[in-house]
Amino acid sequence: MAKLGVNVDHVATVRQARGGSEPDPVTAAAFAELAGADSITVHLREDRRHIQDRDVHLLRRTLQTRLNLEMAATEEMTRIALEVLPDSVCLVPERREELTTEGGLDVARHEEALRKTIAQLREGGIQVSLFVDPELSQVQASRRIGADAIEIHTGTYCEARSAAAQRTELKKIEECIREGARLGLIINAGHGLNYLNVQAVAALGGIEEFNIGHSIVSRALFVGMERAVRDMVMLVRGA
Ligand code: PXP
Repeated sequence: MAKLGVNVDHVATVRQARGGSEPDPVTAAAFAELAGADSITVHLREDRRHIQDRDVHLLRRTLQTRLNLEMAATEEMTRIALEVLPDSVCLVPERREELTTEGGLDVARHEEALRKTIAQLREGGIQVSLFVDPELSQVQASRRIGADAIEIHTGTYCEARSAAAQRTELKKIEECIREGARLGLIINAGHGLNYLNVQAVAALGGIEEFNIGHSIVSRALFVGMERAVRDMVMLVRGA
């Protein structure tokens, strides 16, 4: 049965819109855990547009489940991760002008720099995952440079407009799950997943954990965090 990691970045987005103290992503995380989330993810971006350093430190002290820190492979973020010691780190590419993470890491191209960051984080006892597009070469490169896990970028699948295009994307994801498993990697998935499109990915099997944020926080506005999380837990587990 797949697990659900809840990303609470966009609770912080609403808070930052006024620069005050509410809504607090740390409180949202506690509600998500009560509703059955298996872990909590936050992305500490270089520009601090949503999650703040204070959130990461507080989550580390208060979470009952696991803390997954999404971050760019920079010296600043590596230093923070080694201070906070999240259970896992997911390395993502980051561009200042993007609205959200736009694609996976080009692991093969940045092999040497990533290898060094992975080694530093693993030395600190942190599990390291690489966010990659569903391409076999990226999965193989992730293994080569010592990652524990990959998170398969599901954004292109989620944006596919025709059934045929969705099937093509699902096939790529499935091949990467198989290749990742063959190489002994833990396989997670995320980005763009919602209450309508997650089941087809869960039905492929082999995914350890889904990391989902925007759709859960959006639904929570209307039905509350607990119900929004519970509904998603059922979909990822029940497929
Ligand atoms: N996984 C990664 C690596 C991401 O960058 C994001 C977005 O922050 C997510 C999962 C969650 O995506 P969404 O908010 O679209 O569910």
